[in-house]
Amino acid sequence: MVTPLIAKAGFDPGALAAASSGAGPRRLVILGATGSIGQSTADVVAAVPGRFAVEAVVSGREPLRLAAMARRLGARLAVVADPAGYSRLKEALQGSGVKAAAGPQAVLEAAVQPADLVIGAIAGAAGVEPTFAAVREGRTIALANKECLVCAGAPFMQAVRRFGARILPMDSEHNAIFQALAGRTGADIDRMTLTASGGPFLRWSRQAIDAATPAQALIHPNWDMGPKVTVDSAGLMNKGLELIEAHFLFAIAPERLDVLVHPQSIVHGLISYADGSSVAGLANPDMRVPIAHCLGWPERLDTGAGRLDLARIGELTFETPDLARFPALGLAIDAMRNGDGMPTVLNAANEVAVEFFLSNRIAFGAIAPLVRQVCEEAARAGLTRTPASVADALSVDHISREMARTVLA
Ligand SMILES: NC(=O)c1ccc[n+]([C@@H]2O[C@H](COP(=O)([O-])OP(=O)(O)OC[C@H]3O[C@@H](n4cnc5c(N)ncnc54)[C@H](OP(=O)(O)O)[C@@H]3O)[C@@H](O)[C@H]2O)c1
Repeated sequence: MVTPLIAKAGFDPGALAAASSGAGPRRLVILGATGSIGQSTADVVAAVPGRFAVEAVVSGREPLRLAAMARRLGARLAVVADPAGYSRLKEALQGSGVKAAAGPQAVLEAAVQPADLVIGAIAGAAGVEPTFAAVREGRTIALANKECLVCAGAPFMQAVRRFGARILPMDSEHNAIFQALAGRTGADIDRMTLTASGGPFLRWSRQAIDAATPAQALIHPNWDMGPKVTVDSAGLMNKGLELIEAHFLFAIAPERLDVLVHPQSIVHGLISYADGSSVAGLANPDMRVPIAHCLGWPERLDTGAGRLDLARIGELTFETPDLARFPALGLAIDAMRNGDGMPTVLNAANEVAVEFFLSNRIAFGAIAPLVRQVCEEAARAGLTRTPASVADALSVDHISREMARTVLA
């Protein structure tokens, strides 16, 4: 007897249509509007004029880029999280009709503006609270921010169900799985596979990887992404975070989740069914494709995206990941299997480690050992219990960051 793998994870075909304001444009709130996902979202919105009305755009500390984005999208409200950015934001928006606000409370208020779809694209655990605010309002959320699920997976998904919110997976691998599921609920799923490009260090020796510089880690062969996720990709931590994301999002058991290295980044996710059939999601490595899928869902938007030309690509190759050269992936898999609060600790320690690496304070090869040490210390300190709530997960996140900083000091 195969146990059901996918609990009701908030997917409900037609839900977005039902949540929409009717015949008018679909109302969007974009959290993380100035980032890589935010920019790609703006490209999709611009490709289908009249289909979307942008209610609010939110960024971290970049008031000028945010103002430019708000003007480009004709947003009603622009909010920068850093209160120090307020005067420059207000000045840059003068005469535009866009309302300006700043500070963490204003970010939470932006997240709950009436909207048909909230784009969750803030980088890191900073995205948890604003995205969760939208969950509590029962919004439909196109989720790129994997840290919501890695940091606070179980309580976050419980809240999604409790408040009648919905998650549309925007991360390319999860979006591919979502499309391959085609509304099925999972009892007959044998395996779910996420692919990884392998990043810039795919053919490097362990020694060379350990000594890699930020400049080397920030060159991704296939994807143009923000710095945190690009560094995570270079060490395959990103794939580990995505496994944890899939585990919570699709309620699939850890032992049924796999990773395949696929350097061409054309096949993004794959489901193997009990009868031996496999269904894969394919697309060019361009985030505008999964973003358009989420923005249009359940319809398809014609955004003029480049079509997939398999004859031109010619070769699709697959290999198993090398955990000896990429220990971060093994750590994330262990944290997922360990369950409870271990992914929360892993995510926090990794964010601190990446921040230190990007500012040249630790070597690339020090990231995984730091994460391992913090996970072990947190387990000894009893911090890895299942978070009782999203707030509890955020408090474990906070303590784990302090632990990581202490170790690094
Ligand atoms: N990029 C991709 O292709 C990709 C693919 C799949 C999933 N994802 C996930 O999507 C998320 C965003 O990735 P990204 O590559 O777009 O990152 P990014 O380029 O670094 O952009 C991050 C965005 O978050 C904003 N932000 C940061 N801290 C904030 C805070 N405290 N409050 C409000 N806004 C804040 C930033 O604003 P400022 O610019 O003002 O700091 C920026 O708009 C990550 O979780 C990533 O793992 C990304």
